[in-house]
Amino acid sequence: MSVTIKTAMEIERMREAGRLLAQVHQDLGHALREGMTTWEIDRLGEEMIRSLGCVPSFLNYQGYPASVCVSVNDEVVHGIPSKERYIKEGDIVSLDIGLIWEGYHSDAARTHGIGTISREASLLIERTRESFFQGIQYARAGRRLHEISAAIGDYAESFDYGVVYDLCGHGIGTHLHEEPEIPNFRQRKKGLKLKAGMTLAIEPMINAGAPDVEWLEDEWTVVTYDGSLSAHYENTVLITDGEPEILTLTEEEKA
Ligand code: MF3
Ligand code: CO
Repeated sequence: MSVTIKTAMEIERMREAGRLLAQVHQDLGHALREGMTTWEIDRLGEEMIRSLGCVPSFLNYQGYPASVCVSVNDEVVHGIPSKERYIKEGDIVSLDIGLIWEGYHSDAARTHGIGTISREASLLIERTRESFFQGIQYARAGRRLHEISAAIGDYAESFDYGVVYDLCGHGIGTHLHEEPEIPNFRQRKKGLKLKAGMTLAIEPMINAGAPDVEWLEDEWTVVTYDGSLSAHYENTVLITDGEPEILTLTEEEKA
């Protein structure tokens, strides 16, 4: 499938899918407490998605067994919720959530600190978020896709962080993963020319240490090879003729 340009009707649905997902992120973020299991986080998240009349898009996606990816500390992404995994003060917890509204997908991730976290951890979270905003300065019609990639990667690497090379952002729409792939680091080629109506899930995954990752035995959970902390920040973004529209910002983030 090639890169799709959404019609006005499709954009309306993408906006609504984004708004609803932002609400889930805001509410689930507030519900996080030390002592919860990652399984309880997933249960709550799935209930919130369904109570808004949406369908969780990750559940059963290529066999993924939950609605929310919950990735703690050195887990980069795709952590599988577990009744045995308790979150505790000082942890950083990445929540990656996707939903479908009237056939259209939204996808977003945030990393939260539990209680008081180390300065190293809070800087990593803040700079991972900022790398996304560095990237979307180039998310405009007429610019090249890899200008986004370079801006994200250059910013993160300026702190000697490890940009995860093995996983990318992606186009999004009637499918969770559409073309194009969106790397989070500088590329040799310029990438495609951005056009109004493209919708992209831009998602830097940044390690405090080296960029290398490995997959656990469960075949999903991605962890840093060196055991360092990792953060994730993702939004679904609409390319317009002017400023990009970030479809998955929460009301609190917009305020
Ligand atoms: N947000 C992630 C992505 O964009 C998670 C999807 S993997 C899933 O690829 F299996 F959990 F759905
Ligand atoms: Co994604």
